[in-house]
Amino acid sequence: MSADPVIVPARAFLFADPAAHSLSPGMHRAAFAFAGLSGTYEARRVPAAELPQAVAGLRAPGVLGANLSLPHKESALPLLDDLTPAARAIGAVNTVIHRAGRLTGENTDAPGLLAALEELEAPDELRGGRAGGPVVVLGAGGAARAAVYTALSLLERDVWVVNRTRARAEELAATWPAPNAGLRFQAADRNEVPWAQARLVINASSAGLNVPEDTPLPDFDFARLPENALVYDMVYKPADTRLMRDARAAGLRAANGLGMLAHQARLAFAAWTGVDVPAQVFHAALETEKTGGTGDAT
Ligand SMILES: NC(=O)c1ccc[n+]([C@@H]2O[C@H](COP(=O)([O-])OP(=O)(O)OC[C@H]3O[C@@H](n4cnc5c(N)ncnc54)[C@H](OP(=O)(O)O)[C@@H]3O)[C@@H](O)[C@H]2O)c1
Repeated sequence: MSADPVIVPARAFLFADPAAHSLSPGMHRAAFAFAGLSGTYEARRVPAAELPQAVAGLRAPGVLGANLSLPHKESALPLLDDLTPAARAIGAVNTVIHRAGRLTGENTDAPGLLAALEELEAPDELRGGRAGGPVVVLGAGGAARAAVYTALSLLERDVWVVNRTRARAEELAATWPAPNAGLRFQAADRNEVPWAQARLVINASSAGLNVPEDTPLPDFDFARLPENALVYDMVYKPADTRLMRDARAAGLRAANGLGMLAHQARLAFAAWTGVDVPAQVFHAALETEKTGGTGDAT
């Protein structure tokens, strides 16, 4: 008589340091419940020195994969077997997918940002190519690299990157692969940007994160932007940042990074399970977490 097959519960993780206040477990648990799947999602504090061991553990049966957040998004790359084209181009992985002992690094921040922007902007405004005007990306870290990929490769728009430390923006532009279709990607100081054509500004810096009065554009005249411009702030805590308030005061549209957070989680869950749970499930879980008063990390 053969034994009943052992049902291994599906498991997914977040590796980050710190990890305690992550909003991801709430979203993924809601997704498992909605999809009718038995699975767990656990946020683990993994110090940098322990990342190799933690990643090796993802090869175990029943493990779907993991999300990676600070400080692991870049240092995990050499620990993985494959990278998707987006992860390779961005140079950062926020999602590891496990299949039969092999680990693939994916970056769902970039398509997550795209999906969030698609909820806010008409398709021909968003994908207007060069005619859509340049996209201004503020910041030069990992999130900025995802924003640059979204703007250059997914939206096919010219990109100007502006960072507090200009040398970092220069390095980002200098080391990025040549854009397709004659698109332009350059680092600039704030006063060099053609603001009058910039219909999309993305804050990918951490200015404003947990500091309500901090902004990546202090003493800036938002009337320099076209009146139909959208200011997208990847920061979502506080939910109403000073950048957003300043943009709105000038009559512009502004949104925080919760949409991107929800969509990057939706895309990671779909990559692990094959189930595309509606974004609304992730949005609703974030609302529950916010009213429950928990924290700020991916
Ligand atoms: N919504 C989402 O789903 C989502 C996803 C990913 C990231 N994010 C957010 O994106 C932000 C950046 O993340 P990251 O991983 O790219 O961080 P990072 O690699 O540490 O980069 C931080 C960037 O912010 C700049 N910066 C920090 N404080 C500043 C200030 N007071 N004024 C102007 N610039 C400042 C830094 O400039 P210097 O080079 O001059 O230091 C650097 O360019 C974080 O707030 C993160 O929470 C959101």
